[in-house]
Amino acid sequence: MNTEVRETIFQHALEWVLEAGKTIRAHMNDPLTIDTKSNANDLVTTMDRDIEAFFTSNIKQIFPDHFILSEEGFGDQLDTMDGTVWIIDPIDGTMNFVHQKRNFAISVGIYQDGIGEIGFIYNVMEDVLYSAKRGEGAYKGNKKLPALNDNLNFHESIIGLNHFWLCENRLVDERVMQQLVKDVRGTRTYGSAALEFASVAEGILDGYLTLSLSPWDLAAGMVIVNEVGGMTTTIDGEKINMLGNNSVFTCNSKIHQRILESYLQEARK
Ligand code: IPD
Ligand code: CA
Ligand code: CA
Ligand code: CA
Repeated sequence: MNTEVRETIFQHALEWVLEAGKTIRAHMNDPLTIDTKSNANDLVTTMDRDIEAFFTSNIKQIFPDHFILSEEGFGDQLDTMDGTVWIIDPIDGTMNFVHQKRNFAISVGIYQDGIGEIGFIYNVMEDVLYSAKRGEGAYKGNKKLPALNDNLNFHESIIGLNHFWLCENRLVDERVMQQLVKDVRGTRTYGSAALEFASVAEGILDGYLTLSLSPWDLAAGMVIVNEVGGMTTTIDGEKINMLGNNSVFTCNSKIHQRILESYLQEARK
């Protein structure tokens, strides 16, 4: 992507992300209509839909030849990553949005022919914006994020994962995962994949493991983590497919191989 074109897209996206965040904050205490999707705990609200519609109508107006992949159905049905593709999660962490009124994010990744060019993760209630352009580093607000700690010791790392890994499940042997939890310094569960990616990029979390994410949960995060020298693969160490669901392992590159070989490969069913 030509840098001038990218800058124009970046500036529009930035403006829309901040405006969407402002809208959410302004309506935070309005009565909410909450629906469920695949199961009783899979929530969606009118706010998720309104914010997604806000992005899609703006994008279609200013960039009619761009494509959109998004969670709530306002985007396009894509079977290729060719062209410019906006990958949008209007609210990542809807359960936190509903129950906590905080700890959720707007996530926007912009890809050109399958390559992540721009990423935004906006922690709406804290008004903290993580952003990145490919090859130009990642930022938290106006501050450039430093490269991830090159001397990280595996036993001193903090890993983001949720309880699914530790309960009996059909994908991994929970006993191996319990051993991982004992071997690292600590674990955290934030409930917003985007904010977990942002935390990995900031170096306050050293890795994040999850059994299944959609493209809009990870598109922005992958761009941002890449810019500080981190890496993102599936839990089998493979490349992420942007058009489908993936298991995800994003981390400080220092601990990738160790966790992959000593735990994930062992645990895999
Ligand atoms: C969810 C959150 C959550 C993750 C789920 C996602 P949503 O996104 O990122 O942390 O564990 O897999 O679906 O539905 O709140 O946008
Ligand atoms: Ca959802
Ligand atoms: Ca999400
Ligand atoms: Ca969402």
